[in-house]
Amino acid sequence: MELFATTVPGLEDVAAREVELLIGCRAQPDVGKVFFQAPLEAVYRLNLAARTLHRVFIRLCRESFEGLDDLYRIAVGLDYGDFIDPHQSFAIRSERVGVHCFTSMDVSRVVGQAVIDSHLASRGCRLRVDLDEPDVELYCLVRGGELIMGVDTTGRSLHRRWYRVYEHPAALKPTIASAMLMLSGWEPGEVLVDPMCGGATIPIEAALMAWDRAPNVDRGDFNLLRLRLFDAEALREEGERLREAESRGVYPIYGLEESERHLEGGRRNAERAGVLETVDLRLGDAADPASYPKALSHVVVNPPYGVRMIPKGRIRGLYPASLRALREAAEGATLTVITAAYRRFREAAGEMDVEILSERGVLHGDLHTVIYLCRV
Ligand SMILES: C[S@@+](CC[C@H](N)C(=O)[O-])C[C@H]1O[C@@H](n2cnc3c(N)ncnc32)[C@H](O)[C@@H]1O
Repeated sequence: MELFATTVPGLEDVAAREVELLIGCRAQPDVGKVFFQAPLEAVYRLNLAARTLHRVFIRLCRESFEGLDDLYRIAVGLDYGDFIDPHQSFAIRSERVGVHCFTSMDVSRVVGQAVIDSHLASRGCRLRVDLDEPDVELYCLVRGGELIMGVDTTGRSLHRRWYRVYEHPAALKPTIASAMLMLSGWEPGEVLVDPMCGGATIPIEAALMAWDRAPNVDRGDFNLLRLRLFDAEALREEGERLREAESRGVYPIYGLEESERHLEGGRRNAERAGVLETVDLRLGDAADPASYPKALSHVVVNPPYGVRMIPKGRIRGLYPASLRALREAAEGATLTVITAAYRRFREAAGEMDVEILSERGVLHGDLHTVIYLCRV
């Protein structure tokens, strides 16, 4: 099958690597997504186990087009009968990137009509549109002169992890946290700390990785369960296989947080994730070397950016102070940091002689952030 999956813009190569590791096929990174060919069964595994993907799609088309009439022509030429039963409803979810003389609502309207007309011609029945609770969601990306259409097998994005009972006001997407851990070079067993852990997303994702726990293995509301091509029993069996591969253990994974409220929230999240036995969350100050655990080799952190939580002025002191503390507590450790205050971070790294090994731009929601890989 031709498949594709969406991910965080800026992390496509990490997502492609993960797809390759999970299902053993080559994956081609694209903007905010990865394309690949795999047997249909791969869809179960990716939805249950992927840490860096948001949604997994069956690709219906990827073609050049010129104007709305052309969109209709392409979409009406596709057969939707394998994906939508006559009694089922559907919705088009459109996204538009680039300059066009039409809106994404126009795209949804035209492509929606094409789906109805195609089904009417091939199956003799008129499909129902339901924008609120459709049985089948068709994704339609118009990007410049390119149309990409797919059947959404996921539904609610995979980054919405079940353990988030405490929503930190500046929480990191778990998919980004996982990608940062993958990029950091951390291996379970090595000492890891997130010194500004907030709701503990990074330590929790690390624990799930250490345990080989598929992040969505307990989820029961995938879109694929409403698609005729798929089978609930096969999904359950894949879940069983993944559960059998889990290995619980105690790993040196730490989180520090200066706010009692967020620390308590992080503990609640870790408890809900079932990983409290391997995640040590403590009240601590990232700027105090004494707060850090011994034999520390990897630091993965999402500090405040001075956007949502604390004034910009405080960042000026916090970044150099925490780098100084890190240098004292864990010289030689790797530091993987995501921030939108990149100038501040670069200045602090320069002042503290922290070597920046690589950097990449990543879109975190609507914020342009940078992930830096450094040596402390
Ligand atoms: C961007 S938030 C982290 C969010 C977290 N990654 C999550 O997903 O929930 C940054 C956190 O750093 C904490 N913080 C700020 N200064 C700190 C310091 N000196 N020591 C420890 N924590 C600090 C803040 O209280 C805040 O919870």
